[in-house]
Amino acid sequence: MDSIIVKGNGPLNGQIPIAGAKNACLTLMPVTLLTEEPVVLTNVPRLTDITTMSDLLRSFGAEVTAALDGQELTLHSGAITNHTAEYEIVRKFRASFFVLGPMLAREGQAVVSLPGGCAIGARPVDLHLKGLEALGAVMELRDGYVHATAPGGLHGGTHEFPFVSVGATENLLMAATLAKGTTVLKNAAREPEVVDLAKCLSAMGAQIDGAGTSTITIQGVARLHGTTHPVVVDRIELGTYMLAPAIAGGSVELLGGRLDLVRAFAEKLQVAGISVAETHNGLLVSQNNGRVRAVDVKTEPHPGFPTDLQAQMMALLCTADGVSVLEETIFENRFMHAPELARMGADIEVHGGHATVTGVEKLRGAPVMATDLRASVSLILAGLAAEGETVLSRVYHLDRGYERVEEKLSACGASIQRVTDDG
Ligand code: EPU
Repeated sequence: MDSIIVKGNGPLNGQIPIAGAKNACLTLMPVTLLTEEPVVLTNVPRLTDITTMSDLLRSFGAEVTAALDGQELTLHSGAITNHTAEYEIVRKFRASFFVLGPMLAREGQAVVSLPGGCAIGARPVDLHLKGLEALGAVMELRDGYVHATAPGGLHGGTHEFPFVSVGATENLLMAATLAKGTTVLKNAAREPEVVDLAKCLSAMGAQIDGAGTSTITIQGVARLHGTTHPVVVDRIELGTYMLAPAIAGGSVELLGGRLDLVRAFAEKLQVAGISVAETHNGLLVSQNNGRVRAVDVKTEPHPGFPTDLQAQMMALLCTADGVSVLEETIFENRFMHAPELARMGADIEVHGGHATVTGVEKLRGAPVMATDLRASVSLILAGLAAEGETVLSRVYHLDRGYERVEEKLSACGASIQRVTDDG
């Protein structure tokens, strides 16, 4: 199993290209199930989660072909030959639940395993199910599977989410494009990935208004056609690499970075004393002022501070001057990185949804591991400025969401390498 070794190696300077967004791509790929024509996605990130989604879609009868070294995917679902997403794949990969809405819309049926919990929380799917029921789906839970049908086809309706869910908004948005009549989604997620999905669906002929606001209106159409769509930049990869010079010092330009995608996060960096500036090619982040200032952070749905950057932000605040409080409001168990950072000398106390971080002068390298993607990368970031060697194991979590992490960081002067242990 691979591990990654990071050594504190002084300030970072250079450029890092930012890939297309994993979480946008994972909801864009199932769009293929809504049309018989090919859908081409460009700016696709090269990640294991994308490969897993390709395999799942192939199991439904889609042809998925990659070009440009995996950065372009052509998805073609001429005929749907299977209606079941098996437990073996759904348990590894919650995004498989995204096939439910499109399959109901096109085929009037789908069987999808219930995903179960995961490292960051229980993560139920009740909002997806209730929302699709409001559009006329009938759900039966049997043997750990959701057996969904839409006997008379899906129809429009008004549905208000009790709280914001990115995935449920995306699932309903896809389903509503082919439903009869008008669907109004209230308290919808406003994440850039939802906007990107709506953009792709609109290019396929869907009638959608209000994506990016909390009310989305979809006028159902009889059919959708193919399109070519560039996947939006990954704001979480962007934020993660913005933290690399913030933690190690130096100045790094994030190519393709857009401030509008990370505004709440960038504001917190600026309060901490880090410079964030727009350039012709993206964003330039510089930190040449010694220790950063402590800052309080509360995760919220977009446009608030993203939960997917909380772990990485904590890595920065571990060496800030002062005490920072991080409040996690989206997932109930998303501080697993705290004890690992503590192994590197951080002073963190976790009480429920709050973590109090008292900054220390310096972290020290240690063997660490994490049970999810964002926690894993936070340990690499911490290692960039730590004294000595940090060895991160369970690297497969990282490969789900960050392509060529060691290449991107070492191009800016970081000491980071992957080692393969065949034992
Ligand atoms: N929730 C429910 N019932 C539901 C759906 C969600 O109770 O039916 C709860 C969740 O358990 C959570 C909250 O609602 O407490 C918000 O979850 P949401 O549905 O918004 O999250 P998601 O769609 O499952 C996506 C991203 C996550 C990201 C969250 C929040 C994808 C594939 N995943 O998950 O990304 O943290 O939105 O922004 O888009 C990651 O990339 O590391 C990651 C975990």
